[in-house]
Amino acid sequence: MKELSLHILDLVQNSIKAGATEIKIKVIEDLVADQMKILIVDDGKGISDEFLEEVLDPFTTTRTTRKVGLGLPLFQAAAEQCSGGLNISSKEGEGTKVKATFQHSHIDRAPLGDIEETIATIIQGNPNLEIYYRHVINDEEFLFATSDFRKRLEEVPLDEPEVLSFIKEYLSENIEKLKQQNYKD
Ligand SMILES: Nc1ncnc2c1ncn2[C@@H]1O[C@H](COP(=O)(O)OP(=O)(O)O)[C@@H](O)[C@H]1O
Ligand SMILES: [Mg+2]
Repeated sequence: MKELSLHILDLVQNSIKAGATEIKIKVIEDLVADQMKILIVDDGKGISDEFLEEVLDPFTTTRTTRKVGLGLPLFQAAAEQCSGGLNISSKEGEGTKVKATFQHSHIDRAPLGDIEETIATIIQGNPNLEIYYRHVINDEEFLFATSDFRKRLEEVPLDEPEVLSFIKEYLSENIEKLKQQNYKD
C-alpha cells in the first residue's frame, strides 16, 4: 500500500467488524529517535491467543483453508521492511491493540498520506462510533475526538456532508500546523 493511512483504514475495519464502539488511532513521530509509531486500540471483542498466532502468520494457513485476510500481515511486512515491527495484544471481551513501528527516515517508509480522508471515511460509514485521533510530533500533539464534535453539534449527525467536510478541513489544518512547527528542513 502506498500510504500508511490506508493500512489504518483497513485495521479500523477489523475493529468495527469486532464490534468496537470506541477506536483510538495514534500516530507518534519522534524525529529525534527517528521513529514513527502507529497504534490502533479498540474495545471490540478481542482475539484469542490461539487465533492471534494464526492471524500474524500468512503462511501457515494459506491454501484454500485460510479464512482470514492479509490486512495484519501486510501491515507487519510494511513495518518490518522499515527496520520496525508489529505487535498485537488482545484480550477477549476487552479489546485489541495493534502497534506498528517504523524507522522514520527509512527509504521504504510510506508516507502517512491522507489521514483526514481516512478519518472522514470512517465517520461517514460509522457515524455513531467514537473515534480519537492523536498525532504527536516530538513534544507537540494534536488531539481530535468525535465526542467533542458530537457535543457541540447536538442533534446534527456526524455523517452530514457539511459536518464531514468541516471535520476534514479541521483535521488537515491542525495536522499541517503540527508538521510546520516540528519539521525542520
Ligand atoms: N481489532 C480486531 N479485533 C478482533 N479481531 C480482529 C481484529 N483485527 C483482526 N482480527 C481478526 O483477525 C483476522 C485477520 O485480520 P486481517 O489480517 O485484517 O484480515 P481480514 O480482516 O481480511 O480477515 C480477522 O478476520 C479477525 O478475525
Ligand atoms: Mg482486515
